[in-house]
Amino acid sequence: MNNIPAHIPPALVWDHSFDRFTAEMEDPFLAASRLHAGPPLIWATDAAYGRPGWIATRHDLIDEIFLDHEHFSAERPGMIGEMIGVDLRLNPIEIDPPAHHAYRRNLNPVFTPKAMSALEDAVRQTCAMLVQIFAARGECDFIADFAVPFPSYIFLDLMDLPRDMAPTFLKWEEDLMRGGEVSDRVGAARAIYQYLCDHKDRQVADPSNPLNRAIVDGHFEGRPLDHLEMMGMYYVLWVGGLDTVYSTLGWVMHHLATHPDLQARLAEHPELVPQAVEEFTRAYSVVVTHRRVARDFEFHGVAMKAGEEVHLPLALANRDPDRFADPHRVRIDRKSRHIAFGTGVHNCLGVHLAKREIRIVIEEFLRQFSHIRLAGEDAMQFHTGRTFGVDRLRLCWDRRDGSE
Ligand code: HEM
Repeated sequence: MNNIPAHIPPALVWDHSFDRFTAEMEDPFLAASRLHAGPPLIWATDAAYGRPGWIATRHDLIDEIFLDHEHFSAERPGMIGEMIGVDLRLNPIEIDPPAHHAYRRNLNPVFTPKAMSALEDAVRQTCAMLVQIFAARGECDFIADFAVPFPSYIFLDLMDLPRDMAPTFLKWEEDLMRGGEVSDRVGAARAIYQYLCDHKDRQVADPSNPLNRAIVDGHFEGRPLDHLEMMGMYYVLWVGGLDTVYSTLGWVMHHLATHPDLQARLAEHPELVPQAVEEFTRAYSVVVTHRRVARDFEFHGVAMKAGEEVHLPLALANRDPDRFADPHRVRIDRKSRHIAFGTGVHNCLGVHLAKREIRIVIEEFLRQFSHIRLAGEDAMQFHTGRTFGVDRLRLCWDRRDGSE
């Protein structure tokens, strides 16, 4: 083990990569939980993208880090900004309090549960439109055919962008998130930025809906937002709601396809779907977020240095046996508060939209199809890393009586 900083106790060093570790078993959530047996803070030699850093492995520690902005900063060199050579900060996720609040208050009113309920029909329509493309086929790749395009369509609607942009957006998204070549990823990041810039300019001239108005008429401490502040908001809404939603949907549908009893129960009792969404998002917490140590200090007896990264795998928080009884079992009847959507000031702005999307997808699939199941051997493939995501999920089903 080379290049371990002198202040890191050898007992805390984990000479491993999160990605490789979680790919060892069929169920990466279960595999990752092996870290619960070790110390609550470990120093990983490859915490993310080959970079070393801390990983917090317990619920209460992760919770504490979320709430301690003084020592753990969300401000970091903007990844997208660096890629495209623009001083862009994702706004408000890459901004600490107190400035964070002054930005976020512009967006909060547009994402309340009440405001999101106005999207119910549009979300359901988008879901039905995509399902209709493959329903009669009796099988699909749930990821490529549904889970990836679905949140992109929702984003277009939210932004009041034309739906015929969907194929272009999906190509950019594919290149940015999963593109093999750096040049593909940079090209996509630039194309999205340019497209959103043009959209922003049109909206500044004539805002067309409440979300666009909230951004282009937004204020920071009494002055109007400038160009980069607005662009940071447009960009964060795009990246925030794509990978997260599609990844969660993949695990949810895999769970349903492999648990026929639960599938039948929810089909018979759709009123239970909201609590199932709550439990699914706990058990399948897909996000690994991070903070940066703001200054040298000692945290629970461990010396930390300014600038070090601290990774927060929410799957470990929400499957912590000290917090949740029988954490690896999905029990939709349990009432437990989890932090799959973060906590503290940066808690997910899109949480009410995300839960609505997941609920509607479950409702629509169970309304139209019965006996949803994995299609053949090798039906599923997943990845781990910054998100725990499903790459392929081949499903088949029977159609319910009366459907065409
Ligand atoms: C299942 C889906 C989703 C999950 C699991 C999820 C998870 C999270 C988490 C864990 C955070 C906190 C990150 C941190 O503190 O570092 C967060 C923040 C955020 N999310 Fe989500 N998210 C989801 C869907 C969405 C959607 C649909 C949108 C957009 C409409 C969205 C927009 C945001 C934004 C803007 C923030 C930053 C909030 C702030 O910094 O104040 N998310 N999300």
